[in-house]
Amino acid sequence: MTMKSDMRFRIIVSVSALATSMLSGYAASQTASYTLASPQSFTSIADTEVRSAAMFTELGKVLTHPRCVNCHPAGDRPRQGDESRLHQPPVGRGLDGHGTNTMRCSICHQKANFEPGRVPGHPEWHIAPREMAWEGKTLAEICAQIKDPARNGGRKVEDLIQHIGTDTLVGWAWQPGFGRSPAPGTQKEAGALVDAWGKTGAVCPTR
Ligand code: HEC
Ligand code: HEC
Repeated sequence: MTMKSDMRFRIIVSVSALATSMLSGYAASQTASYTLASPQSFTSIADTEVRSAAMFTELGKVLTHPRCVNCHPAGDRPRQGDESRLHQPPVGRGLDGHGTNTMRCSICHQKANFEPGRVPGHPEWHIAPREMAWEGKTLAEICAQIKDPARNGGRKVEDLIQHIGTDTLVGWAWQPGFGRSPAPGTQKEAGALVDAWGKTGAVCPTR
């Protein structure tokens, strides 16, 4: 698709998604996969726990997106592209997540995206630790893991608001460079969902 027709397609889809969300009263799971519903759009769910879990499910569109999961894989090898194929060439996490001695991530991944080679970049480009793997997990499992200080780098729920809402490595997922679809919504919107989820008791969805 050309950029222009892609844009037109996106506008048509988002207009129809908006119409659907107005009819249903709240936008949970009704929005197209590249937008995020705001915490306010969940106020019609009276039960706080149900509302909290519903907001996490909305955030799940980001957490299960290939831009995040490719760097939070189950094994030692990251994944690439919207199809999440195994990283080529083969690279491993090494001892520090920055690659093996001979194949450091920074050999290829520069401080910023390198568009001529379509190589993503960031000064801290490295793979998420094993205990933070999301690949192949249900949203309920990811939720339990993300809340568990033993598996989330010792973070409190409040720290997650900062991390997801403002960390620049996480933020790369919304500016991934040509040929990669960005994570849904904006980073700020994702941060707002984490905030609202935390304030409503950080309840996990059942699946
Ligand atoms: C380039 C690789 C990379 C990408 C892309 C990436 N992460 Fe991570 N992520 C990491 C690394 C490395 C850590 C561990 C850093 C730390 O603990 O400070 C991490 C840790 C986390 C943590 C804290 C630990 C946990 O699992 O609870 C969260 C939350 C997180 N990432 C969210 C995201 C989200 C959301 C996205 C996509 C929008 C994303 N990450 C994309 C590499 C990545
Ligand atoms: C020999 C060069 C090279 C090395 C070393 C390398 N990469 Fe890559 N990586 C690439 C290239 C090129 C791409 C883009 C290819 C594509 O997406 O089709 C890429 C893409 C990625 C992506 C895909 C992002 C996305 O969502 O599409 C991730 C994740 C990634 N690399 C992580 C790593 C990590 C982590 C390391 C170190 C452990 C590493 N890479 C080491 C060359 C390399």
